[in-house]
Amino acid sequence: MSCPQDWPEPIVRVQSLSNSPVVPDRYIKPPPDRPTYIPSSDISDHANIPVIDLQGLSGEDDRLRAATLSQISEACREWGFFQVVNHGVSPGLMDKTQQVWREFFHLPMELKQAYANSPKTYEGYGSRLGIERGAILDWSDYYFLHYLPSCLKDYNKWPALPDYGREVIDEYGKEVVKLGGRILKALSLNLGLGEDFLQNAFGGQDIGACLRTNFYPKCPQPDLTLGLSSHSDPGGMTILLADQQVPGLQVRKDDAWITVKPAPHAFIVNIGDQIQVLSNATYKSVEHRVIVNPAKERLSLAFFYNPKSDIPIQPVKELVTPDKPAQYSPMTFNEYRLYIRLNGPRGKSQVESLKSPRNTL
Ligand code: OGA
Ligand code: NI
Repeated sequence: MSCPQDWPEPIVRVQSLSNSPVVPDRYIKPPPDRPTYIPSSDISDHANIPVIDLQGLSGEDDRLRAATLSQISEACREWGFFQVVNHGVSPGLMDKTQQVWREFFHLPMELKQAYANSPKTYEGYGSRLGIERGAILDWSDYYFLHYLPSCLKDYNKWPALPDYGREVIDEYGKEVVKLGGRILKALSLNLGLGEDFLQNAFGGQDIGACLRTNFYPKCPQPDLTLGLSSHSDPGGMTILLADQQVPGLQVRKDDAWITVKPAPHAFIVNIGDQIQVLSNATYKSVEHRVIVNPAKERLSLAFFYNPKSDIPIQPVKELVTPDKPAQYSPMTFNEYRLYIRLNGPRGKSQVESLKSPRNTL
């Protein structure tokens, strides 16, 4: 199975629809998938994903370090999602990178079209995931690019506008990769493994790192559609820089959808399917989705910290016991991600379908 060279039907930029009076049929979700639109002012502080200060992680204070690790551990088990502050990436760089992407998405359409992507590698300017003809689509456009491995990093596939954009995007990638490495160490220790264990299981320094900048145009009927349908992230771990002004990300907690309220200059971190597999389901990837807004556009930067794409990913043997046999068979990330690339976002159906047959009997 491989990805086709082109889209099954002409691509429509969602941004070009944002001033229409109604949402076209192609974007109208079946009633059970529709969100209840919540005005930002009604988002409660009570049920929010944990906010964790990472300052103590690298300091001299052993007790603070242990306390930080334990907050991360609990967040991974309880939520699969948490926010981090004092994470080491400069707030100025975060703001600048968001600004670069805002400028890109506000360029005239013909300039953006020069970067139009195809389902072959997904790199570039895109408006859908999945290649099923006639699929109901999401209310968003995006830009996808690779940082790592270096052989896939191709500045020609990055936007050249605004003219200082590539430098800023590059710097951002370097900083967020470092942060990803630190968080992965914490996860490794919390699983009772050596601190470099997960990094090595991801392929050492040869990990995959890519960025999808999501642009959610304002939407005339936000209660009929979604910016991004429910999904779990197929990769290792996602480090999201959400819009500081416009909420939209919702995380599934039991049977409810919790709207995340981003803390200032925080990153939102979540466990992806590959960590669920490696940890033998000690940590679980969590479904999330994005709702859209009638008055405001929203921008988010989803940085995917992934395993090297051609090595088998399977439960680490230290986490496989007679009581908890291996729940998943080995699969490379290259094979794994074809599912979402072909089918688009579909909740947790893929990772659930991969449970080793002997465990589902
Ligand atoms: C994603 C994602 C959330 C957001 O890109 O996988 O879940 O807030 N994005 O845009
Ligand atoms: Ni996601």
